[in-house]
Amino acid sequence: MLRFLKPYPNSRPAYTLIQNHLVDCRQISNQTLNEPAQPCVKTSIPGPKTLELLKELNSLQQAGSVQLFADYDKSFGNYFVDADGNEFLDAFTQISSVPVGYNHPHLLKAFEDDHNLKALINRPALGVFPSMDWPEKLKAVLLSVAPKGLSCVSTMMCGSCSNENAYKAAFMRYRTKERGGKLDFTLAEMNSCMLNMPPGAPKMSIMSFEGSFHGRTFGALSTTRSKPIHKLDCPAFDWPVAPFPRYKYPLSEHERENHLEDKRCIEQVEDLIEKQKKAGNPVAGIIVEPIQSEGGDHEASPEFFQKLQNICKAKGVALIIDEVQTGGGPTGKMWCHEHFNLPSPPEIVTFSKKMLTGGFYCNADFKAPHPYRIFNTWMGDPGKLILLERVLEVVKQENLLSLVCATGKVLKEGLHTLEKEFPNIINSVRGRGTFLAFNANSSQIRDKINNNLKSNGVLGGACGETAIRLRPALIFAPKHAEIYLTALRKTLKQL
Ligand SMILES: Cc1ncc(COP(=O)(O)O)c(C=O)c1O
Repeated sequence: MLRFLKPYPNSRPAYTLIQNHLVDCRQISNQTLNEPAQPCVKTSIPGPKTLELLKELNSLQQAGSVQLFADYDKSFGNYFVDADGNEFLDAFTQISSVPVGYNHPHLLKAFEDDHNLKALINRPALGVFPSMDWPEKLKAVLLSVAPKGLSCVSTMMCGSCSNENAYKAAFMRYRTKERGGKLDFTLAEMNSCMLNMPPGAPKMSIMSFEGSFHGRTFGALSTTRSKPIHKLDCPAFDWPVAPFPRYKYPLSEHERENHLEDKRCIEQVEDLIEKQKKAGNPVAGIIVEPIQSEGGDHEASPEFFQKLQNICKAKGVALIIDEVQTGGGPTGKMWCHEHFNLPSPPEIVTFSKKMLTGGFYCNADFKAPHPYRIFNTWMGDPGKLILLERVLEVVKQENLLSLVCATGKVLKEGLHTLEKEFPNIINSVRGRGTFLAFNANSSQIRDKINNNLKSNGVLGGACGETAIRLRPALIFAPKHAEIYLTALRKTLKQL
């Protein structure tokens, strides 16, 4: 087997034919040139070494979620190598969190720099003793890609705690407004909050949508509505939930129904805000994913989001856009909500995964009014910003957002071809960029496709009841799309 492809010679043609598309070779990332030519599966999946490690790990913790053990020394670019030496084309990338593939040379060099290494090993409590270059770093890295109109940023550890703290910011802003901008508290507020009672711990809510996923910490979990398994046995806030559109596909053939579906959902959002207010549990914020991800890759139209924002503005509710999974480029734009042409910026945008550090952007009104209120010991990690800086350099240098668009086009057209070829097995191809998904006609078939894809050399992801989602790295090129589609066709034929 040809293990490593030689870099293209300088005389390579400017265009190559992939899936009947003329693809500009300059759009094939440098990082993919030294990868295996294709997947190589040598054992049953999971292989013997993986099973042995699973047994060992299971004796120490609940390891039922572990799919494979990785060999991160050998994984490279879009290829994940497991403990048994199997080489998979990775279209799932650690639940969508590897921006530029494994062992990218530019990232590997990050800590050769002595200053960077010291930033890594002297991990500060960022809220109290940040390094002297921290403000500049935030500006140069995170604010350089900030959603338009959002000038403040706080770093956090993960997606859940980014949302958790965004909710706190929304509540604090809501109460500050109610106090007419006054920043001091009454004695009754100070005493009652210690008993978890109003007025200090007031009744207020964050609205989320059916099928949404916003994380597993307590506040975030109260807004997560994707699967019972995440929520069972944990007390939750009494917060409202609205329907999120469920579209019929293909979109072009169901415009009228889908438009009515938007209307139905928006009306309920409006109703619920009023009901909550009357019940004395007002909505301070609405959190929404630009594409519902864990819940099944449900998309909504730009018009839906524009109307949602109008309602939020009219009712004084903060619009919090959860870009934990969609942010960082996989939809072909840095932030998925940029596809929606919103009349004004959202109040808060949360991120993590491909951004490598968690955190949230907000406008200055949502900056915590006092110190130690949006806070924890680490508040992120400067090492992650050093890596993110390099990721953003690669994204720019290699023009990866346009690669995402080119690859996404090949993938989506290929998936449409397959849904026509196997209409009794898959349907509802959807998504933006390489952030794509399709449904199987039952959960069992979906699980079978996802498992068998592995045996055919591809790591993919499942979400919702019946969906398979694609979450490749930004360096996934049309040639990888071709390998993915070939493996999927083989998998569907084998069913
Ligand atoms: C949209 C969204 N929000 C929040 C989270 C939670 O992030 P984390 O798992 O880092 O806590 C996820 C994780 O999958 C997510 O997809």
